[in-house]
Amino acid sequence: MHDKHQEFFDKLAEEWDYTFTAEDLDRLRHLVSKIGVKEGMHILDLGCGTGILFDMLRRAVGDSGSVTGVDFSFEMAQKAHRNFPFPNVNVVDADAVALPFVDSSFDMVVAFASFPHFSNQQRALDEAHRVLKADCKINIIQLESTKEMIEIHHKVGGVVADDDIPSEDMLREMLQKSKFKNESIEDHPGLYLATATNSK
Ligand SMILES: C[S@@+](CC[C@H](N)C(=O)[O-])C[C@H]1O[C@@H](n2cnc3c(N)ncnc32)[C@H](O)[C@@H]1O
Repeated sequence: MHDKHQEFFDKLAEEWDYTFTAEDLDRLRHLVSKIGVKEGMHILDLGCGTGILFDMLRRAVGDSGSVTGVDFSFEMAQKAHRNFPFPNVNVVDADAVALPFVDSSFDMVVAFASFPHFSNQQRALDEAHRVLKADCKINIIQLESTKEMIEIHHKVGGVVADDDIPSEDMLREMLQKSKFKNESIEDHPGLYLATATNSK
């Protein structure tokens, strides 16, 4: 089924790479170093878009690790695939709420600027938990606070107008329901970072 969000993101794919400034990329590099990406890790990038994180992640994990991007917009996934033809990078056109991976496949999940758009955030968390190995982390990242993000989505309008991240209390509850523990949530101008550990 092709839903309105898929159509919306399909249309953005061609120009998406141009929406990032050099400063955004610097901030992302800093974040990737902060979340503990290490050589040899197998990382899942949920809602990867055109793969803006791929180069940073693939360099950090090296040849013994891998980066797997998932996106349900066919055009975004195709562009990511074209942008990063490296042996340690894979792109899969799939929905974050039904991941085509076996249990305990990944050492880290990142969802950058994508979590607010997931149709069923609880199921996406359940799936992230399922495919993560024991004691491994999920990182939900935005380059803006929730307040700033809401303003951006309202300004963009259309199908993303009301896409949002749950309140801090609600997200903690949802993470715990999906069997994550040790949640930590930072929400301030220029950064949103929620991390939690898989309690398998
Ligand atoms: C705002 S873009 C961010 C893309 C990328 N992470 C970046 O920051 O450049 C959100 C992405 O999430 C993807 N997305 C939204 N809902 C999704 C879902 N349920 N499953 C997989 N991808 C999804 C969209 O197709 C889109 O590429």
